[in-house]
Amino acid sequence: MNRVCKHFSQCGGCTSQDILYPMQLKMKEEEIKKMADFFSLKTEIKPINHFSPFFYRNKMEFTFSSDEEKKSICGLHSKKGDVFDLEECLIFSPYTGEILRIVKDSLKDRYPAYNKFTHQGFLRHLIVREAKSTHQLMIGLVTTSMFYLEKEKFLKLLLSSSWGGKISSVYWVINDSVADAVIFQKKELIYGEPFIVENIGDFSFHIFIDTFFQTNSLGAEVLYKKIEEYAQLEGGEKILDLYCGIGGIGIFLSKKAGSIWGVEVEKNSIDCALLNAQANNISNISFICSEVRKFLINFKLPQPDLVVVNPPRCGLSKKIKKHLVKLRPPYILYSSCNPSTFFVDLKDLGEFYNIEFIEPFDFFPHTPYVECLGKLTLRKK
Ligand SMILES: C[S@@+](CC[C@H](N)C(=O)[O-])C[C@H]1O[C@@H](n2cnc3c(N)ncnc32)[C@H](O)[C@@H]1O
Repeated sequence: MNRVCKHFSQCGGCTSQDILYPMQLKMKEEEIKKMADFFSLKTEIKPINHFSPFFYRNKMEFTFSSDEEKKSICGLHSKKGDVFDLEECLIFSPYTGEILRIVKDSLKDRYPAYNKFTHQGFLRHLIVREAKSTHQLMIGLVTTSMFYLEKEKFLKLLLSSSWGGKISSVYWVINDSVADAVIFQKKELIYGEPFIVENIGDFSFHIFIDTFFQTNSLGAEVLYKKIEEYAQLEGGEKILDLYCGIGGIGIFLSKKAGSIWGVEVEKNSIDCALLNAQANNISNISFICSEVRKFLINFKLPQPDLVVVNPPRCGLSKKIKKHLVKLRPPYILYSSCNPSTFFVDLKDLGEFYNIEFIEPFDFFPHTPYVECLGKLTLRKK
């Protein structure tokens, strides 16, 4: 049997930690094959790529709540949906328990946890990011504006911990919104650098508290290298990187391509992508801050030789697919963390494109989630 986390029976996160890892991989491969059959996609399904099944995540969002004795706790959501106090997490970091213990010890007697039903209280979430290559830690304490955080006391305890030397960045984030999600209404850097650095292949990426980064750093490296391999660039190609986030895929392709344009709706991510291009001495990439739909409708750039798409879980809307097809790129490389929308989109694009293959990546061991990459080639009329 796999090593099983002490919260396994309770935690709503890892649902298949008790299944041997090779079996989990087999089940995911079967699932992808079944989905391809369901959508009548006759294509090659490549073997699933896998990485370390433990301590693979580089980001977690923990939630504060109160226990029956009204004491503040901090952890994850249970299978029932309530929050339980977390002592370890085998998919994030060996330091998880220590980080949570110090944070709780420094805050719990002074500030009440936020209650999402009454909207009263102060402590809401704790964001922790860990760069797997540099081991730098970033901490983000998310609260309401009900109190003023005694920053010095909080930082003193964090930094004097046994892992305090790894902390590169600490933010205090204020979120008074009633939505049960982390919203960065106000953020203050209260210690260190505004970013941490993750090295992926030959490139380094700056990651800020509010920018998207693939949650499995080792997985991202393999995915980006495969995208580079399947792009089969000869030099001079024009590439569109749609939903580019902080520029990872485009930057990976930049060595061999002519020009790359990354498109992303979040201004913070675009600023970070520009910084990443500069830090890696890349001059053939540009970034456009826009919704992909609006960008495609008003498309004014040269005809692309390749379009890379990596949308959020909702996938591509009908309108986006219509405009993408109108552009007639000879190749599309489509990567997604949600097989349900990925297959619907491939089916629709399959009216005009041959689906050369689908390749799964186990970015999220012990959970039902899987990343998929597909290569599409424009069918000759
Ligand atoms: C799965 S992430 C891809 C990030 C990037 N390709 C990478 O490898 O790190 C999806 C990205 O799409 C962005 N996004 C979401 N909706 C969008 C839209 N309608 N138009 C443009 N970008 C969008 C998100 O902000 C996020 O950065």
